[in-house]
Formats: sequence, structure tokens, C-alpha cells
Amino acid sequence: MNKETVLISGGAGYIGSHTAVALVEAGFDVVIIDNLSNSERGAIDGVERILGQKVAFELVDTCDKDALRGVFERHQFNTVIHFAAYKAVGESMDEPLKYYQNNLVSFMNIVEMMHDFNRPNILFSSSATVYGEADTLPVTEQTPRQPATSPYGNTKQIAEDILHDCCRAYAGLYGIALRYFNPIGAHPSALIGELPRGVPNNLLPFVTQTAAGIRECLSVFGDDYDTPDGTCLRDYIDVVDLAKAHVAAVRRMTAGKMAEKYEIFNVGTGRPVSVLELISRFEAVNDIKLPYKIVARRPGDVPAVWADTSLANEVLGWKAERSLDDTLRSAWAWEKHIRHMS
Ligand code: UFG
Repeated sequence: MNKETVLISGGAGYIGSHTAVALVEAGFDVVIIDNLSNSERGAIDGVERILGQKVAFELVDTCDKDALRGVFERHQFNTVIHFAAYKAVGESMDEPLKYYQNNLVSFMNIVEMMHDFNRPNILFSSSATVYGEADTLPVTEQTPRQPATSPYGNTKQIAEDILHDCCRAYAGLYGIALRYFNPIGAHPSALIGELPRGVPNNLLPFVTQTAAGIRECLSVFGDDYDTPDGTCLRDYIDVVDLAKAHVAAVRRMTAGKMAEKYEIFNVGTGRPVSVLELISRFEAVNDIKLPYKIVARRPGDVPAVWADTSLANEVLGWKAERSLDDTLRSAWAWEKHIRHMS
């Protein structure tokens, strides 16, 4: 039997590379496209080393419609996972057009090509950012979205809406949006992981770079929130677990099991963890003392958000499995690998 092929845009990126591994391990073929604007060719090497086989990779910018058309002409696949996007919240405030251009044009090009070439299934990388400061916690997929607080977040909301409209309008198109909570950690091999450029915006890369001595001190943004220890609560999802959620969603699509033409799933652990708790677990499992100081709140941060994952658990048959401790070990192993530390 021929294997199903999945096109992965942004497959050299953090979540894309882990998903490529998970898909091949689950018996799919993959074609990866990426413009390497925020990722490295080395990620593809890492994927190939883990799998012990080559994967198809093409240097393609999904904003370049002609180049993208070529990919659709050259390769047969029924399913696309669209990861390719910019993701820095702060940068999106300073350069909104860059975000709207890149994130929306690339997304619409993908959908247009799928429509033109009759390719049915698209899986879209959405984000918990669409919930904003939710009235009730944990958030379910029915929890109303709040107005986006950044152009980045707005691109996720708009792309969700575009996908919903297109699935309604085009008989042959099926869509799933996965709303990721906070992805962290790395593959247990330490051959792929997150590769932030410059000063990291996100907590975990800042933690591991501080542990490696690259950053002097971690700033904890606020300890006066209305939470148990005063620091923000988030739902940190292991990136390998997250990758497996994509496999489950792809299976649902390729098996023709979708109940609606457009479906949404939260992908998290369902467990809120505070910034201080994360720091202390990181210190404990890796036997490292992390220098940190409490500073002012970061504008735009919501006090708490975590997922109700019942829908993904029941409908996708997927559940986060890796413990927070193992995830934090893997994050440190990856940082040591890229810094050539023992
Ligand atoms: N934090 C610190 N110090 C840091 C970095 C982060 O204390 O140096 C805190 C933040 O204040 C927050 C928590 O760590 O409480 C997590 O922050 P991240 O930046 O890692 O993650 P966010 O929850 O802010 O961001 C994530 C995704 C975005 C998404 C956003 C909104 O990374 O893509 O959620 O839901 F837009």
C-alpha cells in the first residue's frame, strides 16, 4: 500500500521538525518546505539523523505563489500542515505589516493551491493566544475568542476565520485548527529543538540560555498577579506530545472521520504551571541554580490560561504523556547539545 504523504510548510521550524519526525514514525511520508527565515537547514539534518533516512526538503517561501504551485505540481499529497509563520508577539507590534503580509499571504496561498489542485485536508497551527484573557478557566474550544492584543495574535484569528469560510464554501476542503498552548522541550535525542534567534522572548529558551551562562539573569515578569504564587499560569505542552497531536489530527482527516468540515482542538496538558514552579522544577531536575529576579509585569501578558483538553482526548484519542520534569530535562539536554557542552 502506498504511504500517505503530508506536505509540511515550515517543517524546519521548532514544532514542524518534531512533527515531521512523528509523522514518519507513524508511517507517513513527508515533503518539507521552508524558507529558513527563522530556522536552520541543520534541523532537517537532525530529523534525518533521528529517522535514519532522508526526507524530501525544498527551500520554498510559501508567500511565493509560483514556487508553491511548483510544489503542488511535483508532489502528490492529500494533507498539508501549515506551520510557516512569524511568531514574535513584540515584533508584531512594531512591524504589523510584516506579520499580516507573511502570515496571511502564505496561508491564503496554501489554501488557494489546495483548492486549485483538489487537495482536501489542511491542518493549521493556531494558538491559545486567540482566547486572550478568558472569563472562565480552563478554556474549551467553545470559550469565546477575545479581540487579539497583537498583530501576531490577530493573524491567528483571521487565518482561523479564513479557513472556516473556505471549508464552508469549497466542498472538497476540510480543515482542522490546533490551538497550541505553550510548547516547550525538545526531542529526547537532543538532535532537534527550539532555536531562537537573538534574545529569546519565551520563558523556556531564556531559562536554558541563563543556565548555560549566555544570559546573566532571568527576569520574572511580575509576582503580583491573582494566582497562587503571584506569577502567571500557563499550560506548558511538550513539543513531542504536541507533534503527536498533529499525527492524530492527520489520521482523523485522512480516514475521513471528521464530524464537521472545520474543527478546532486545544492542545495542552490541562495543567496550569506558574513561572516560579517552572523555574524550581527546572532547577531540581537538572541540578542547576538559576539566577532570577522579579521585575515588572510584561505588557500584554494574561494572568492565567490553560486548556480543557477533553475534546482532543476524546475525539482525537490524544493525550499529553511526557512529564514536566522529563520535558525540562530534554530542554536542558538540547541547550547543552547546541552549545557543545557536555
Ligand atoms: N516570562 C518571564 N520571563 C521571561 C519570559 C517569559 O517571566 O523572560 C513569563 C511570562 O510573563 C509568562 C510566561 O513566562 O507568564 C510564559 O511566557 P512566554 O513568552 O514563554 O509565553 P506566552 O504565554 O507569553 O506566549 C505564548 C506563545 C505565543 C502566544 C502567547 C499568547 O509563545 O505564541 O502565548 O497566548 F501568542
